[in-house]
Amino acid sequence: MCGIVAYIGNKEARELLLEGLKRLEYRGYDSAGIAMLNGGVHVAKTIGRVAGLEEIISNNESFGGSLGIAHTRWATHGEPSDANAHPHSDDVTHGHGIQLVHNGIIENYVSLKTYLQDKGHTFTSETDTEVLTHLISEFYNGDLERAVQTALKEVTGAYAIAVICEKEPGVLVAARKGSPLLVGVGKNEYVVASDSSAIVAHTTQAFLLDNETVARMTRDSFRTTTIDNVELTPELKELEFTLEQIELGDFEHFMLKEIYEQPATLNTSMQGRIDSIGGTITLGGVSELADELVKAKRILLLGQGTALHAAMIGEYLLEELAGIPAEVEFASEFRYRNPIVEEGTVAIAVSQSGETADTLAAVQEAKRRGATSLGVVNVVGSSIARETDAGVYLRVGPEIGVASTKAFIGQVGVLTMLAMYLGRRRHLGRDEMRRLLTSFEEIPRKIESVLAQSDHILEVTSRVVNRDNWLFLGRGLHYPVALEGALKLKEISYIHAEGMPAAEMKHGPIALIDKGMPVVVVATKGSQYEKIIGNMEEVRSRGGHVIAVATEGDEEIHNHCDDVFYVPDVPEPLQPLLTVIPLQLLAYHAAVLRGKDVDKPRNLAKSVTVE
Ligand code: G6P
Repeated sequence: MCGIVAYIGNKEARELLLEGLKRLEYRGYDSAGIAMLNGGVHVAKTIGRVAGLEEIISNNESFGGSLGIAHTRWATHGEPSDANAHPHSDDVTHGHGIQLVHNGIIENYVSLKTYLQDKGHTFTSETDTEVLTHLISEFYNGDLERAVQTALKEVTGAYAIAVICEKEPGVLVAARKGSPLLVGVGKNEYVVASDSSAIVAHTTQAFLLDNETVARMTRDSFRTTTIDNVELTPELKELEFTLEQIELGDFEHFMLKEIYEQPATLNTSMQGRIDSIGGTITLGGVSELADELVKAKRILLLGQGTALHAAMIGEYLLEELAGIPAEVEFASEFRYRNPIVEEGTVAIAVSQSGETADTLAAVQEAKRRGATSLGVVNVVGSSIARETDAGVYLRVGPEIGVASTKAFIGQVGVLTMLAMYLGRRRHLGRDEMRRLLTSFEEIPRKIESVLAQSDHILEVTSRVVNRDNWLFLGRGLHYPVALEGALKLKEISYIHAEGMPAAEMKHGPIALIDKGMPVVVVATKGSQYEKIIGNMEEVRSRGGHVIAVATEGDEEIHNHCDDVFYVPDVPEPLQPLLTVIPLQLLAYHAAVLRGKDVDKPRNLAKSVTVE
């Protein structure tokens, strides 16, 4: 989704802004733009990559100076085009020289536009953002901060903005509601950005702007206020990650780097939380609500995309291990139903970014209806982390690859710990818990052994990669794994893939199976093994090419499939943490073999901050 970087300070801003935009590229975008104040306003925007913008401005001296705003746009209102790209200005001839970049959606932009048109404003783009720029211009009376505050009072929707004005050449104003925006504080310099990855190279001190707050920065001062102009004291925090974590190192793609980081990140996620000898789990973030959680009558899990698939696994585990009725729902659907939230309901929002607009709104809705809310999120201090009553962080570090991998393992890992934690408090015996925890502790090492099969997975993938339609099948806990495998393949290789419960195949999708169609089946040893073998036979007898994910030592599986990826034997509730790994690698290899841009898949955004 759109990315913002803005700078005011003592350095040349151009390189810094471009580098910041590159660091935000992973969020997904279709056009880029920049505005700099350097003895007047200078603006460049272009459809396509940041590299294109760089070409336009790199040898143009007007883009010097140390105050500027920059943006990567992911189109919502109006197609990707130079005209719709940000920054947007107020009327070039009659305005005040205001330039603005925006992430979010101004929901009432149509009525605001009519109001402004009646006052003589004319518009050159189809965007909601241009309307906000003109609204600020309308209220401008020599004080940019004041004009921004006044304009934002008229706005409904979500925004993170950075604004400059030709008439105030030493001032940068930023504001936010809903969409994330951080202010990095250096020595006589400020870097404003959508996330820390664009800040950390310059300073590790930052604060997150609160909802409906405005920051006004000059080179040597800053203040934050509410939109009603009440001054606030922001809380400076040390950014938790390092530059190394957001750089590729020896890997060709972030996705591959993150796949290989999974053993380490799962270890970090477990650290200090599990004690396999004592058979206990400590989850500091939920300890104060522990009694309430143990007595929960129903747990509702909310998420989107990969996070939803992790939540589906959480649903199985909470019922299986904790014995608590659990349900999972697309956050985007939940928020617009009239859901019945009975007393004793706990709503868990699962999200890597902690900023997904639908997930945030859904958990807020559940809270309004009386649920206790928990966040299972990665980004510390993100909106969901702040809006929920308690939560457990994933601790997997920054995830840059658009196709989520280590965050999925982190989400499933945390939900597994939560289910075991509640199970232990309810009915799981100490010995059973010890056994489970001992196996859980060994998962990172076992993931490594699956990663070691990458060459074999590449070889198998290369034989079927030219096929355009794939199915992924699983049963029980592996149904969400099948969904996740299909999603990974779609996202980065643009191969059409569907995931489904294996038994559902007979109700329609089986008609698709023809000679050589790849069908990936998660068929590990467990309660539904025989049933899934039956499903594999149904595929094989129609000519499908079956690729099984099976348990090490299962030689019999060769009689039912064409290719096999083995995973180590672990207790059934822990299997998803292993069975998804070959599917991540398969998707990665397929995308590379097809020559796709793995880390910047078309049309996708890493963090979907609009509904
Ligand atoms: C987008 C991303 C997915 C992610 C989903 C939910 O679609 O491309 O990778 O799973 O949003 O994001 P969240 O940050 O809430 O986990």
